[in-house]
Amino acid sequence: MKNNTVFDCKIIEFKKQNNNITIENKLDIPFDVKRIYYLYDVNNSSIRGEHAHKDLFQVIFGLNQGLKIKIDDGQNVKTFNLNNPNKGLLIVPGIWRTLTEFSPESICIVMASELYSEEDYIRDYNEFLNLKNDTS
Ligand code: TYD
Repeated sequence: MKNNTVFDCKIIEFKKQNNNITIENKLDIPFDVKRIYYLYDVNNSSIRGEHAHKDLFQVIFGLNQGLKIKIDDGQNVKTFNLNNPNKGLLIVPGIWRTLTEFSPESICIVMASELYSEEDYIRDYNEFLNLKNDTS
């Protein structure tokens, strides 16, 4: 998690046939999907995320009007508009993410490599920077 950068994160384009997008475990996503969750009815002014994960891999989709996501490794920042049903953003461990610009119709689907564990979260940005910059 420490040495991962935003350049290890990437948009994955999923195959689309006849208005159908199919995502097959391990074939289309580079991990075993253990959990799926989604955000909906999120207020336009809401800021979601604002945390990093220690071990969790995720692929994040923005459907309908989508949303904006900023990823940050402590040195580099990248932003993406997630508004395409056949494109998901792979986020590796050790990346701070911030989700904004939801519309009332937006749905954010997250596929995750692990079951929910609060222990895996880093919710304090200074703690995140300290972990990323620790040279010991
Ligand atoms: P959290 O991941 O903190 O926020 P965001 O949706 O903005 O990224 O999730 C919000 C709350 O939901 C938090 O109290 C933890 C809880 N939660 C679960 O119980 N299970 C889950 O799978 C997730 C993702 C969150």
